[in-house]
Amino acid sequence: MNSISVTLVLLCATLPVALSLIEGLVYNGNFEHGPKSWQLSGSHILDPHALPNWVISGFVEYIKSGQKQGDMVLPVPRGNSALRLGNNASIRTTIQVTKGLFYSLTFGVSRTCAQDEKLNLSVIPNSEANDSAMLPMQTMYSTDGWDTFSWGFLAEASKVDIVFHHPQTDKYNPGCGPIIDLVALKAFPPHTRRQGIVKNGNFEEGPYVIPNTTWGVLIPSNIEDDHCPLVGWVVESLKAVRYIDSDHFAVPEGKRAVELVAGRESVIAQTLRSIPNTVYNLEFFVGDAKNLCEGSMLVEVFAGNSTFRVPYESKGKGGSKLVRLQFKAVSSRSKIRFLSSYYHMKSDFSGSLCGPVVDGVRIRVAPRA
Ligand SMILES: *[C@@H]1O[C@H](CO)[C@@H](O)[C@H](O)[C@H]1NC(C)=O
Ligand SMILES: *[C@@H]1O[C@H](CO)[C@@H](O)[C@H](O)[C@H]1NC(C)=O
Ligand SMILES: *[C@@H]1O[C@H](CO)[C@@H](O)[C@H](O)[C@H]1NC(C)=O
Ligand SMILES: *[C@@H]1O[C@H](CO)[C@@H](O)[C@H](O)[C@H]1NC(C)=O
Ligand SMILES: *[C@@H]1O[C@H](CO)[C@@H](O)[C@H](O)[C@H]1NC(C)=O
Repeated sequence: MNSISVTLVLLCATLPVALSLIEGLVYNGNFEHGPKSWQLSGSHILDPHALPNWVISGFVEYIKSGQKQGDMVLPVPRGNSALRLGNNASIRTTIQVTKGLFYSLTFGVSRTCAQDEKLNLSVIPNSEANDSAMLPMQTMYSTDGWDTFSWGFLAEASKVDIVFHHPQTDKYNPGCGPIIDLVALKAFPPHTRRQGIVKNGNFEEGPYVIPNTTWGVLIPSNIEDDHCPLVGWVVESLKAVRYIDSDHFAVPEGKRAVELVAGRESVIAQTLRSIPNTVYNLEFFVGDAKNLCEGSMLVEVFAGNSTFRVPYESKGKGGSKLVRLQFKAVSSRSKIRFLSSYYHMKSDFSGSLCGPVVDGVRIRVAPRA
């Protein structure tokens, strides 16, 4: 007991102040504190400092719940308001963080015009001039017209600026661009738990999930590994994977898991240290998220030079089974990868993509026979 309290005191002494924001919405991350009427022309925000805690540039609109563009209601996921980033628009917020810790950013977006809307995310300062990511909004995964994305970064100072930039312009419609709402942040503990040889094999360390939302959090593809908010893993594919939690979905183990939502186009992978010619036991759960994703599923697992196909019959009501496999390492590094052989859609005719859930990945050296 004594040694634990001593350790805590030391931790508090070495990590001053900034731990106040561990996880949750950033201040005014839901944009409920809006501009005054004289700072607006219609919904266009005229004053760059009209929104508490944010600085805007370019054509940014303040969208109220129920607001329409033509016949289409612009989606506001929660509360009364959201922002829309039009021509070459950006929004920036400064936050207190703990230098040296890894953070993940969670935010809701909806595309409103073009198929190929993109968002350029960056964190300043950073030592790499190119430390930003272009997130495509091409595939919308949920049917609420709304998705939640996540992105990770290492804090290189105790105060950082987070910038969302919509780089495109449309001369006929300056407002065209994605809507943003619910910007949240989460700090990760400095060390990641291992389950045997695998880092974060139960997926407990991942992005913040916004409470009372039913769409999970997408972990995007095509970002650099050090921006993957799923600690230890990379999304090695064209499309995202969905991070789900036990408050809103069925999860095989613990509180969090990953749903492979885009067939062969959503892949999670991890590279491990291994001893050549050694046999390893690989264990994991395959299941379904209790989200009406029904049918015969097949998860493909690649480990070292071995390939496995694991069937799972989903009734869409939540369930899982434990799978045990063996592979032999062929080198000092082995990659494990998981993907879904098939595409699945929810049985509610919504057209929503879904798929098998993977959780509890553990690898150990196999006992010698
Ligand atoms: C976008 O905005 C930035 C900052 O205001 C400006 O420097 C840049 O020239 C603009 N780009 C275009 C294409 O309008
Ligand atoms: C994305 O934003 C960063 C920081 O503002 C900038 O340096 C970078 O050039 C932008 N990337 C693109 C492709 O616009
Ligand atoms: C970013 O810059 C670093 C060095 O500054 C370089 O090593 C890395 O390859 C660059 N990444 C991309 C995607 O250009
Ligand atoms: C989530 O919903 C429950 C029940 O409706 C409510 O009590 C709770 O305050 C909500 N939490 C948030 C963060 O909105
Ligand atoms: C493992 O796979 C790689 C790539 O396909 C191949 O080059 C290598 O020869 C294989 N090694 C063994 C021992 O099968």
